[in-house]
Amino acid sequence: MSERILTPARRAAIAPFLAMDVMREAAQLRREGRDIIQMEVGVPFAGPPRRAREAAIAALDGRPISYTDALGLPSLRARIARHYRDAYGVSVEPERVCVTTGSSGGFIMAFLALFDAGARVAINCPSYPCYRNILGAFDVETVELRGVSGVTPEQVEAADDGQKLDGLLLMNPSNPTGALQSDESMRAIAAVCEKRGIKFISDEIYHGLTYERPAQTALAWSRNAVIVNSFSKYYCMTGWRVGWLVVPDGFSRVIERLQQSLAISPPTLAQIAAEAAFDATDELEAVKAGYARNRAILLDALGGMGLDLAPADGAFYVYADISRFSENSLEFSKALLEQAGVAATPGVDFDPTQGHRALRFSYAGAEADMIEAMRRVKVFLGR
Ligand SMILES: Cc1ncc(COP(=O)(O)O)c(C=O)c1O
Repeated sequence: MSERILTPARRAAIAPFLAMDVMREAAQLRREGRDIIQMEVGVPFAGPPRRAREAAIAALDGRPISYTDALGLPSLRARIARHYRDAYGVSVEPERVCVTTGSSGGFIMAFLALFDAGARVAINCPSYPCYRNILGAFDVETVELRGVSGVTPEQVEAADDGQKLDGLLLMNPSNPTGALQSDESMRAIAAVCEKRGIKFISDEIYHGLTYERPAQTALAWSRNAVIVNSFSKYYCMTGWRVGWLVVPDGFSRVIERLQQSLAISPPTLAQIAAEAAFDATDELEAVKAGYARNRAILLDALGGMGLDLAPADGAFYVYADISRFSENSLEFSKALLEQAGVAATPGVDFDPTQGHRALRFSYAGAEADMIEAMRRVKVFLGR
């Protein structure tokens, strides 16, 4: 009887985040003593910056680590606001900054704040799988705009002409392709959203990690954009679970009410550490220089094996077309893991219709591992 009562809700029937499934399998193989190189998730090989660690340790002196304001530590909100002036030349009032539990917590707050069940939100495809999954759990329909190099303003207009869009969610640079859209096209997309009343959410989690030119924040083009960002990637703090939103004037109170009840506050110790991470630029730029070397290693090696590669302008991913070797990226990634000890993410995670021909490699790992992984992939492919 009780088994029948515990049937999952329809909204819980979302797809798995395959990168995390592969990570669990890879970790299990490691525990069994296998030599596995992990390239399946975007986790920086470096620990948090020294200043962040020191700030966290200093806070562990016996004083209570209690809740913070629901929208985060005032000093961290002010420091994030300053970051917009320093990094982008854009003025943001601290009141518009909402600290969240990773950008993942930010999505939950932003989606609840912006979209009712039945809303339609356009996303790029291929794209970060959790967009589809979180929106799906909220009964929000996703409309896929296909494009390995990003989306065009015309695609947004055409989708909106077909059936009114409530929102557009884009990241730049992209996971899984690494593609960085031009400022001109992002500006034009922001203008389409303004003109047509489409709520524009810009996921800027990979800002700081571009190798040819910097990425500009969508706030430069629209005060109505909702910005999502995080300390997970550039700041090397994945497990600390701190991110932030920048919302339009007057909207913070909406997020505050949601966060009061859904999270109470973001994690306090992690916020203290995150604030200090803003002063660790030298250390973080050295980590980034390592990614740049890794990127060159992968582009050279995978290109040399005859794989077609997506742009890889930023983030720390290479998205490779494997169709010359397999039309089943799930099976292919399993074989690569089991036979070669290299964990990579099957493209179906990012693109349910065409991702069976693609594999994503993360190059956020150590350089020696990248070199060894490419040697193993080459042997595996018989190239
Ligand atoms: C595009 C994108 N957005 C958001 C996230 C979630 O990051 P976090 O919740 O750690 O801030 C990720 C994680 O890989 C990502 O790739």
